[in-house]
Amino acid sequence: MDLADLTLTQEPYGTPARLQARIAVHAFGRHDAEDFHAWVWRRAGLPASLPEDAAVLEVGVGTARMWATMAGRIPAGWRLTLSDRSPGMMAAARAALDALGRQATCLVADADALPFDDGAFDLVFANHMLYHVPDLPRAVAELRRVLRPGGRLVAATNGDAHLQELAEALRDLRAAGPDVRVDLPHRLSFTLENGAATLRAAFDDVERHDREDELLLDDAELIVRYLLSMTYAPDTATARALTGRARALVAARLVAGPMRVRRVSGVFVAS
Ligand SMILES: C[S@@+](CC[C@H](N)C(=O)[O-])C[C@H]1O[C@@H](n2cnc3c(N)ncnc32)[C@H](O)[C@@H]1O
Repeated sequence: MDLADLTLTQEPYGTPARLQARIAVHAFGRHDAEDFHAWVWRRAGLPASLPEDAAVLEVGVGTARMWATMAGRIPAGWRLTLSDRSPGMMAAARAALDALGRQATCLVADADALPFDDGAFDLVFANHMLYHVPDLPRAVAELRRVLRPGGRLVAATNGDAHLQELAEALRDLRAAGPDVRVDLPHRLSFTLENGAATLRAAFDDVERHDREDELLLDDAELIVRYLLSMTYAPDTATARALTGRARALVAARLVAGPMRVRRVSGVFVAS
């Protein structure tokens, strides 16, 4: 894919390309933290605290990265259901599960109208997706509805200060033109700071676990891809100008050494 093409898709999750560029900074940047999903599972007491034959749902599954990362620790008896509102993401998730040789029911569904019976699941994951849903209280009520009494929701998200150094670079790119749109990765509707209040409307018990570390980025193309994955251009000429501007900006930032990026994220465990 031509780098400029990354900015041209108007649909954020039409294909996995943008999400993959965002994941790559965490996968290839340097850090000494435990793998994020391993940390989430440890904090949620998984898999030990669930029955061997648990019914498990992930909504907004994306590329199914969690299942690929945790493949060796998923109990053989877990019955998996994966869903996403985007058919393109769902196809990527299906392919990832096939590559693992793991059975899963995969379906396209919106988080605020889940096509499942009340109490169908022991555990539901909604990681890094609740800040996208247009009607958050309704989606949270749906997540509660499809959980059995005592069932658990695991919802990872970011803090307001997450990746703020990259957000500064994005603000710079926004100045590239009036038609350029930028998704700033903060001021989200569901964050570490505001998420508990939203979840308490539907769940009696909400635990919050925080995690903070630093990412060192010295690969210019990796950073440029991340920045472009958060920008939208209306035409090819603007997309190319944006790519040029992102490259120049990143080259200038790296003169002084690797970019140090603060990561502030965490997980809610609700029941
Ligand atoms: C940032 S990605 C997170 C993917 C995955 N959960 C992860 O942590 O890697 C957000 C995902 O949520 C999906 N999504 C956004 N709004 C949704 C909605 N209302 N219902 C279901 N999925 C949604 C997107 O298509 C995308 O795949």
